[in-house]
Amino acid sequence: KILVLDFGSQYNQLITRRIRDFGVYSELKAHDMSIDEIKAFNPKGIIFSGGPNSVYADDALTVDPKIFELNIPILGICYGMQLMAYNLGGGEVDGQDHGQYGHADIDITSDKADLFQNLPKEEPVWMSHGDLVRKVPNGFENVAKAEGCPITAMQDTARKFYGIQFHAEVRNTKYGNDILKNFVFNVCGAEANWSMNDFIDMKIKHIREEVGDKKVILGLSGGVDSSVTGVLLHKAIGDQLTCIFVDHGLLRKNEVKEVMDSLQGKFGLNIIQVDASELFLNKLKGVTDPEKKRKIIGKEFIEVFNQEAAKLKDVDFLAQGTLYTDVIESGTNTAETIKSHHNVGGLPEDLQFKLIEPVRSLFKDETRHLGEELGMPANLVWRQPFPGPGLGIRVIGEVTKDKLKIVRDSDYILRREIAKAGLDKDIWQYFTILPGFKSVGVMGDGRTYDYTIAIRAVNSIDGMTADFAKIPWDVLSEISTKITNEVDGVNRVVYDITSKPPSTIEWE
Ligand code: XMP
Repeated sequence: KILVLDFGSQYNQLITRRIRDFGVYSELKAHDMSIDEIKAFNPKGIIFSGGPNSVYADDALTVDPKIFELNIPILGICYGMQLMAYNLGGGEVDGQDHGQYGHADIDITSDKADLFQNLPKEEPVWMSHGDLVRKVPNGFENVAKAEGCPITAMQDTARKFYGIQFHAEVRNTKYGNDILKNFVFNVCGAEANWSMNDFIDMKIKHIREEVGDKKVILGLSGGVDSSVTGVLLHKAIGDQLTCIFVDHGLLRKNEVKEVMDSLQGKFGLNIIQVDASELFLNKLKGVTDPEKKRKIIGKEFIEVFNQEAAKLKDVDFLAQGTLYTDVIESGTNTAETIKSHHNVGGLPEDLQFKLIEPVRSLFKDETRHLGEELGMPANLVWRQPFPGPGLGIRVIGEVTKDKLKIVRDSDYILRREIAKAGLDKDIWQYFTILPGFKSVGVMGDGRTYDYTIAIRAVNSIDGMTADFAKIPWDVLSEISTKITNEVDGVNRVVYDITSKPPSTIEWE
């Protein structure tokens, strides 16, 4: 196991992700984890993540200095390296802004640089820092340099302490994986013997320990995340789990039935289905601001939920299918809020349940993999990601019944045509949006003044970044014809050709 301590970098969970991909279990924990907790976790190595602060900031995040006496190898990345230089005696951090963001070429200046064994002496890396290390701490040697950053990597091989100023976890660092592997395997001596099945066993054990003989409820949304969470929990605690499937009227065509048939029919989950579509429409009346819409949907969801839960007796836990991307984009202690995601933003502070989020540390593709290992069928597991607020954020501006019908029907046609063209496995996520403005068209001999439908189709690995999908023209042409012919009130179809960043995947 490798422990990653979180100092707030946007990239921190990527570190654990890379290491899990090597077959070594890794988890991200708060930077102030106590020494006893660290000992109990029993890691083979510890990584200090990057972070946006300066070690000189008033509220700078730090570690218990006893961590350096545990006899466990440590790798500090970016802020993590500065933290070592600042804390380990004899080192110095330059707090003046030497900002270096993006590509840099580094020179490895020592033949005995452990992290760079079997790698080229010159290599491209990804930098993103303000401060830098000016003097290595006692016992360390400087082993790499770059323009503007004379100490790019440092090591103390006796204590097995390492620091790198660049981000090895980011793909733009060409040999980033090799550098991390050198640390994980050669320095820490970890073994690649971890798999998703171990994750399942571990989670089942944790869930059973945490829940005991208590009852858990889970909100099913129809998406991959809550379905996988449901099946995992069901496997752990069987009928102690009750699922509440709040149909907020913002789901895709046929979705309620498909979910019920599969999760209740095949997997035997205990599901209470609630039709709250009128309530949600009422609450959303006149609301146009995306964040307000998200908050309302999240809040109502929880409220309907609480009402249903109150009818059940002795429920202690609320489970949620929150994923890592939901957590990071809703803002962590240091990362900025991009969108308040349904699963996170809508939670009231006085929540009457304890929260269980068993897939919180996973990325989307890991969650699908988990679903497969749990024996879930491909059509459920490879379902597209679908946001909690559903079609409510795909009707831009005010949500009305008529607009929902247009976006739902056009989405159905899009999915049907993409499947017909055999592209459903190739595109990560595809859906339609109703931007809500009207434009002039001509149908038959008459003038029309109707809505535009936008098609959004993207490829992504983890939802954090995405490229727009290059759907062939003839398929797009067929989709456009079918949508304008079959959906009343639409006379124009456009294709969104932006990637993320600068756009997000959803429009709201
Ligand atoms: P964005 O629009 O933030 O979306 O680029 C990234 C991925 O997350 C999905 N998404 C959500 N998922 N609750 C969710 O569970 C939400 O509130 C939410 N908002 C966006 C989005 O569909 C895409 O796959």
